[in-house]
Amino acid sequence: MQAIHINEFVKDLSDLGPRDVEIPQRKGEKDLVVKITHAALTHVDMLYAQGLHQNNRRHVKPPFILGTEFAGVITSCSPSSSFQPGTKVFGGSLGSFADYVRADESSVRRVPDQWTNAEACAVGASGAVSWGSLVFVAGLKRGETALILGASGGLGVMAVQIAKAVGAKAIAIVGDEEKAKMIQEAGADDVVNYREDKWEEKVKALTHDGEGVDVVYDAIGAVESGIKCLRYRGRLVIVGFAARDGNIEKVLANRILLKSITVHGYRFGEDGRRFPQNTETVWQGFLKLVEDGSIKPVIYREKYFGLRSISRALEDLRAHRTWGRAILTISEDVDVEEKARL
Ligand SMILES: NC(=O)c1ccc[n+]([C@@H]2O[C@H](COP(=O)([O-])OP(=O)(O)OC[C@H]3O[C@@H](n4cnc5c(N)ncnc54)[C@H](OP(=O)(O)O)[C@@H]3O)[C@@H](O)[C@H]2O)c1
Repeated sequence: MQAIHINEFVKDLSDLGPRDVEIPQRKGEKDLVVKITHAALTHVDMLYAQGLHQNNRRHVKPPFILGTEFAGVITSCSPSSSFQPGTKVFGGSLGSFADYVRADESSVRRVPDQWTNAEACAVGASGAVSWGSLVFVAGLKRGETALILGASGGLGVMAVQIAKAVGAKAIAIVGDEEKAKMIQEAGADDVVNYREDKWEEKVKALTHDGEGVDVVYDAIGAVESGIKCLRYRGRLVIVGFAARDGNIEKVLANRILLKSITVHGYRFGEDGRRFPQNTETVWQGFLKLVEDGSIKPVIYREKYFGLRSISRALEDLRAHRTWGRAILTISEDVDVEEKARL
């Protein structure tokens, strides 16, 4: 099969190209082999390619196949598995920029009937990460206001929809007009552009008493700004550092004291490794929203076909051109099957 195989971290994303490798085989009882139809391009993939992610110190070192999120069709599983060959699944596992991936059963879910494989891939684990951050960790409730930093990204578009689904008001922070329109269509009540001066004051002015929001969801690494936007005793959850280019900010601890706020972190993958039952609870919470129709996948308009498009797609992501999830089609066969279903 073909795959984006990383023998050593690349300096330039244009150096990424497919090569021939062995099709992965099942090793354990819980392993599945999935023929990939679609893979998502994520911020994590961009960092993994260059060795810039915290996981590159321990869990993800060369040689490995790039790619973390996918949708596809199961080609092999244990006879005792709750899945069957032919089942359409989506999920997260290292090695998705390839024709096939081996994945643990716990890391995939059936593609919901109402979604195509491309749509399920666009949601991937982002919905669960965002539900875990907002609801499981930060305890967002009906009637509260949530501020979503990084709202135009793959995680952020899920966070906005989850905030709305639990009955909260969602204020979205994005970087341009096209993204503002997209996130309003996805359900955001208000949108503020982070390129405007003193955008934090604009956020506070949108809260009912001007005191600030109840919860900040930070996928970009703007904790200082997030704290400015929080009300007294507000909660902030750190999800990612998409805006930092590896330079993580230092925050003065007195800011936390002065507003009596709570700052949480949430690392979905590590939580799953340590507390699988919590992660199952998080998935169930998110999938309930999928079932009741509250969640709509958001796919970036540009089409990317085949593993040779990876460099171009990751470059579009790096240059802030994309919004929602950019999706790579790897096998067109299942696309034909999907179109026939419509
Ligand atoms: N905690 C976890 O378990 C977990 C799991 C998965 C991912 N993550 C992390 O979560 C973060 C977001 O992931 P993603 O997949 O949603 O990324 P993404 O799709 O690339 O989206 C990145 C977002 O960051 C925004 N952004 C980038 N630079 C910015 C800046 N200078 N100022 C303000 N906003 C900026 C972008 O906004 P514009 O496009 O509008 O500029 C975009 O909304 C990443 O750091 C990723 O590593 C965490």
